[in-house]
Amino acid sequence: MTISSTPGKIILFGEHAVVYGRPALAVPVTQVHADVEVLDSDSAGVWIQAPDIHLHAELNTLPSDHPIASVIHNLFFLSRISPFPSLNIKITSTIPVASGLGSGAAVTVALTRAVSTHINYPMTDEQVNAFAYEIEKLHHGTPSGIDNTVITYAKPVYFIKGQPIETLQVAKPFTIVIGNTGISAPTKESVGDVRKLWEADKAKWETVFDEIGNIAKQARKALESDSLLSNTLGKLMNQNHTLLQELTVSSPELDKLVSAARSAGALGAKMSGGGRGGNMIALVESDQAESVATALIKAGAKNTIITQVS
Ligand code: PMV
Repeated sequence: MTISSTPGKIILFGEHAVVYGRPALAVPVTQVHADVEVLDSDSAGVWIQAPDIHLHAELNTLPSDHPIASVIHNLFFLSRISPFPSLNIKITSTIPVASGLGSGAAVTVALTRAVSTHINYPMTDEQVNAFAYEIEKLHHGTPSGIDNTVITYAKPVYFIKGQPIETLQVAKPFTIVIGNTGISAPTKESVGDVRKLWEADKAKWETVFDEIGNIAKQARKALESDSLLSNTLGKLMNQNHTLLQELTVSSPELDKLVSAARSAGALGAKMSGGGRGGNMIALVESDQAESVATALIKAGAKNTIITQVS
């Protein structure tokens, strides 16, 4: 049997502007994960079981652009293994779908690693990352590649589209509370809407992307320098949220959770990921994490995760 497990991820700064070449910061979230098991099968074919999405089917009965089927078809194509081996693949995930925690990329990376290892087609992290990016493109149009990168390397990253990966050295661990609106919002739609805005007035939105990019740069400096951390990072989160509101990707539910976190004493808060639903994050002193999480639930969050970034 071959097993692979990958964490979820959360974007700290820079979403949306990252699609237009500006830097963004993201970190793995190990409290949630996607897990894949691969076994040789006694019955012919590639059998896929994904109980979380009520899927139990043979590969060839799925549409070829199905997110899971496309990973397996592309891996077999790449490895040139013929005929297809008979396999049983089990996929489970605790990462909520379409919520900004990278569920799709996490399943892709775990599935790629488990199947490639099982069929003796070893892949480096770099190859897994590049492969997962191509799969992300099939399903999301114009992804920046940040999700697959953070999830493949499972490390905090300072990410610029198309540039070599830079991992972050966090000077002092810090705590964030993640609040889930419970609204699933496809990233593809918010990214598409931002593109429409940008196409209608490139000069205006390029300036906004520059501002977001500068926030991500300052945040990196703060993260890497102990003394700047708590003073600066929270303010930068608040500024980043305002710019995301201008980009029309926040929502009343996200704004409500962001305000609730700030009122409960968070150092700063913002929406995270594609927006319109999904998750928000709040930077907190570790002894305030529980009370901020409680305030988020009272303000309508469906669940919260407290995570330490180090
Ligand atoms: O919704 P998520 O967490 O997968 O994040 C998407 C981040 C965007 O910047 C909006 C899109 C992208 O491809 O980077």
